[in-house]
Amino acid sequence: MAMIVVNGVRREVQAPADTPLLYVLRNDLELSGPQFGCGLAQCGSCSVLLDGKEIRSCVTALSAAVGKEVTTLEGLPGRWAQQKGISQAEAEKTLHPVQQAWIEEQTPLCGFCQNGMMIKATELLERVATPTVAEIKEAFTTSGPSAHLCRCGSYTAIIQAVQRAAMAMGGNR
Ligand code: FES
Ligand code: FES
Repeated sequence: MAMIVVNGVRREVQAPADTPLLYVLRNDLELSGPQFGCGLAQCGSCSVLLDGKEIRSCVTALSAAVGKEVTTLEGLPGRWAQQKGISQAEAEKTLHPVQQAWIEEQTPLCGFCQNGMMIKATELLERVATPTVAEIKEAFTTSGPSAHLCRCGSYTAIIQAVQRAAMAMGGNR
């Protein structure tokens, strides 16, 4: 048994300690944001934040998350609310600016990769308020164990959505 904190809530999990965190999130905790793509840390579709850093949950053991804060796509609104001092009631009616920007830019095509794209964007924008296009490209290509892959080719829309989210987040600072 392991106790982990996911999206601000303590969760007791019965899975063995070496179970991939992705399986725990999807199968035990019924969080369907993170996707199973390659299972080899090579695509980014399974990404979550672990203490604010993007990790590939397909190759991260449950034991590695004990004592740390896991944030999934579902937890982004609450994360934003906490950072900005917005009430939980208000947070339940809103999205994280990254999610909102993804909608406004109509970024997803099939959508399969977009969980990882939004997680990566959130990590980047928490670190760099107004990233350049080069910094955005670097974040999605060489900053992790592999590039974040989109088989549908939504890369241009992703850059635009990150820029839109950066403006929205900066406007609230
Ligand atoms: S499923 Fe984890 S990186 Fe592809
Ligand atoms: S939107 Fe289809 S894989 Fe990225």
